[in-house]
Amino acid sequence: MEFKNMKKIANEQKTDKPIMSKDSPTNHHDVVIDVSDLKKNYKVGSNLIKALQEIDLTIRATDFCVIYGPSGCGKTTLINTIAGIDTPSSGEIEIRDTDIFNLDDDQRGIFRSKKMGIIHQLSHWVKSLNVLENVALPLIIQGEKEKHSKIRAKRVMRELGILDLSRQIPTQLSGGEQQRVALARALVTNPWILLADEPTGNLDTKTSDEIMAIFDMLNKEYKRTIILVTHNQAYWTLGTRAIEMRDGLIVKDTKSG
Ligand SMILES: Nc1ncnc2c1ncn2[C@@H]1O[C@H](COP(=O)(O)OP(=O)(O)OP(=O)(O)O)[C@@H](O)[C@H]1O
Ligand SMILES: [Mg+2]
Repeated sequence: MEFKNMKKIANEQKTDKPIMSKDSPTNHHDVVIDVSDLKKNYKVGSNLIKALQEIDLTIRATDFCVIYGPSGCGKTTLINTIAGIDTPSSGEIEIRDTDIFNLDDDQRGIFRSKKMGIIHQLSHWVKSLNVLENVALPLIIQGEKEKHSKIRAKRVMRELGILDLSRQIPTQLSGGEQQRVALARALVTNPWILLADEPTGNLDTKTSDEIMAIFDMLNKEYKRTIILVTHNQAYWTLGTRAIEMRDGLIVKDTKSG
């Protein structure tokens, strides 16, 4: 299993910020995401698509929420709105008491990159950069020096067992490799919240299980808050909460695990 050296790496860095700190900045039961009366409509021609109808959702630091539901029910819209990428039609989202839609676009971008790691349904890569440079990029955007960013990127990649992919071009990798690189890129800034949209989408069972085991460990051992979308029924009870969506609504929210 990958991540076997995680503890060592987390503890060994006396002078550097640990790659994966286990010390949560707040109480584990604190509310980290508070979504209230969220609505998102899309206007396509004369049609109004109600992608999110009325979402109320409170997520605590220890939560590992697995979101499922039929195609088109609003899962990606919800993830992207929580990330502050999509703007809601109405409603509020507070992340650690910050109303993210009260921030301007630049502030929201900085806030997102500091607090959240995001794995999109389809990964976007900077094609002119190799894998290592893509993974290091979020840190460079945050203003870290390139050398330091690459050192951190290498540490995370080593932990995920993908260091040997460093010099490749992301689009030329297999689906499973790309998802690990996407996970490394999401983890490089050491965020406390991870949002993952179908991270095992087209992967075989073994590779999917390995990726899901990493999320499980990140939640249990490293106390990361995780919101993960999956259509794979085998994973619906993997987290601490299973949330079913239908037609832009949350229709079921059960504790599991
Ligand atoms: N940019 C957009 N413009 C217009 N309609 C959109 C847009 N994005 C999403 N939608 C619509 O909003 C609804 C919710 O889409 P969303 O992508 O959130 O579904 P999903 O649950 O993630 O589906 P899937 O399981 O297929 O990924 C769908 O009806 C979709 O067609
Ligand atoms: Mg989707």
